[in-house]
Amino acid sequence: MKSVLFVCLGNICRSPTAEGVFRALCEKEGAGVRIRIDSAGTAAYHVGKPPDRRAQAAARRRGVELSALRARQVSDEDFEQFDYVLAMDEENLRELHRRCPAVLHSRVRLFLDFAPQQPVREVPDPYYGDGDGFETVLDLVEAASEGLLRDVC
Ligand code: 4NP
Repeated sequence: MKSVLFVCLGNICRSPTAEGVFRALCEKEGAGVRIRIDSAGTAAYHVGKPPDRRAQAAARRRGVELSALRARQVSDEDFEQFDYVLAMDEENLRELHRRCPAVLHSRVRLFLDFAPQQPVREVPDPYYGDGDGFETVLDLVEAASEGLLRDVC
């Protein structure tokens, strides 16, 4: 079974959105049983909390339910256990590469590498902005999820 870990800073906005959207896509495409999907944050500020209410509301408008998810921090074992460790932005990527054993570096990539048609390489942090940021997150996450599913399968 293949495995995918989505990573952002707090694990309450971008990476749980990616987890929910990618899981929904896998279920729709019938690939769910073959892919383990999880998310985590590089920071520990929000460990144990559900996704940000704005992220939950925006995802729900697109038919994706995030309320059961709970934030956790990336652990050393994640680099062994997940085939894909996908960072939402360059800062997350640097932090993951810093923590990851050198032999496993190729598992750690930017999520938007799987959406080369998009004009940006990073999923912008929506936490401190206005509500529109969450729609941008969903647009980018949906696009990259399609590319990722093709790569995984
Ligand atoms: P995320 O967003 O990394 O997409 O979960 C953030 C959540 C919390 C904070 C920053 C970004 N924070 O500074 O608390």
